[in-house]
Amino acid sequence: MNNIHPIFDKIATREQKEEQLRQRGVTLWFTGLSGSGKSTIAIALEQLLTKKGYLCQILDGDNIRSGINSDLGFSSADRTENIRRIAHISRLYNHTGIITLACFVSPTEELRRLARAIVGSVDFVLIYISTPLTECSRRDVKGLYAKALRGEIADFTGVSAPFEVPADADITIDTTLRSVECCAEEIFSQIIKRIEYGKL
Ligand code: ADX
Repeated sequence: MNNIHPIFDKIATREQKEEQLRQRGVTLWFTGLSGSGKSTIAIALEQLLTKKGYLCQILDGDNIRSGINSDLGFSSADRTENIRRIAHISRLYNHTGIITLACFVSPTEELRRLARAIVGSVDFVLIYISTPLTECSRRDVKGLYAKALRGEIADFTGVSAPFEVPADADITIDTTLRSVECCAEEIFSQIIKRIEYGKL
């Protein structure tokens, strides 16, 4: 250890940061088909949390893939690397006391297990937005299902690539029955105990 001067005992700890923010850092990991409503619900939930004084960060497929993960596509290996990096980013936010809302298709049990392992299961809440394929492709907000069905997008989740329904979701939300605000409130009521400072 000659010439090595560790600073771990000098930098501010996660506990100090959570005390400063008066909240617990957790990762709310939204999984579901493209167009199922993951980001829309996360945005509504972020507004709800922000109004109540909680500090959040949304990570979503379209923003992360145009920046830090712009080198990745949709092969199985690239999806794994996409999720691996995002899980590490989520972990960093959590260790700063920030509530992360990560919205990624993350279509397989293996990918979601990887995310949970990196973030740490104590800090990880899996939220399945269960909007069925028929409804996602009927809405087709981005026009991607039409293209995928015409064979213009390879490996499109739900059309030419698999989506495995999670067996271990902590919360499942069906958007066909409720408004966006109602879905966000339902998630809020289920996670509030996990984020309140001093309640664990
Ligand atoms: S993941 O599978 O690696 O978790 P991610 O959530 O980052 O996917 O990106 C999904 C978004 O990328 C979709 O909502 C859609 O807008 C777009 N997209 C483009 N090509 C594909 C594809 N082949 N499969 C799924 N989504 C795609």
